[in-house]
Amino acid sequence: MNAIVLSETRGPAIMPPDPILSLEDLSVVFGDLVAIKALSLAVRRGEFVSLLGPSGCGKSTLLKAIAGLVPPTGGKIVRAFASMSASFMFQKPLLLPWRTALDNVLLPVEIERGGNAVDSSDRRNAERMLNLVQLGEFAGAYPHQLSGGMQQRVALARALISNPDVLLLDEPFGALDELTREVLNEELIRIWRSMETRLSTVIMVTHSIPEAAAMSDRVIVFSQRPARIVEDVPVDVPRPREPGDVRSAAFVRRIRALIRSGR
Ligand SMILES: Nc1ncnc2c1ncn2[C@@H]1O[C@H](COP(=O)(O)OP(=O)(O)O)[C@@H](O)[C@H]1O
Ligand SMILES: [Mg+2]
Repeated sequence: MNAIVLSETRGPAIMPPDPILSLEDLSVVFGDLVAIKALSLAVRRGEFVSLLGPSGCGKSTLLKAIAGLVPPTGGKIVRAFASMSASFMFQKPLLLPWRTALDNVLLPVEIERGGNAVDSSDRRNAERMLNLVQLGEFAGAYPHQLSGGMQQRVALARALISNPDVLLLDEPFGALDELTREVLNEELIRIWRSMETRLSTVIMVTHSIPEAAAMSDRVIVFSQRPARIVEDVPVDVPRPREPGDVRSAAFVRRIRALIRSGR
């Protein structure tokens, strides 16, 4: 009996999980400019998805629409459950220079509290997030005392403090040098896979084909504006991965060819 109930409710193990988020015929228009036109895309719970495409094709607009920062002109965004929450992280850390790392991480909590003071459990939570991004010792440091990579770690901790289900990353480490970027990419994967937060799903815009391939379960390649999906490329490489595991793989060559063809 138990087995039957289990199979009814959970399905066979090979079934892909339900989408946590679906875009259905989504369009976003700014005046005369069509940024996104009738785009449909489902992202499954637990997935790490990268979005690749030419500059100006509508990738940032897509993330902003998912975050609720830009209203859809047409179509809709379906969330798997009403309480599903998403956090956004940008290429620039956007830290307040007069606040310490800890107080920057606490900012979303303060906003949520609507002027009521944060308490000691909020502070402990912020410390936990700083520990998670390996900056526990820098809680009292000001942004100008931190390197670019450390500032992005603070921004990541700030994005995680609201315990989001989905993390939306817009070229998160694009302004950093390559070595720092590689380290932060590994950290991000570690945090995404760890059970220390509720985070299950990551949607990341990047300009780097190797980065997209190395990090993602799926790479979605967009056309020129208005963004249309040119190809949806699964990356079936087991984790943990080494950079060399994907660098020369056939799908990397395919993605590169698609981007170069400028479709
Ligand atoms: N708030 C806005 N108002 C008017 N046009 C916008 C706005 N945001 C983005 N755009 C335009 O929409 C198009 C897509 O922009 P964006 O989503 O930022 O592209 P990407 O992130 O792929 O480089 C661009 O032509 C951009 O100029
Ligand atoms: Mg952009």
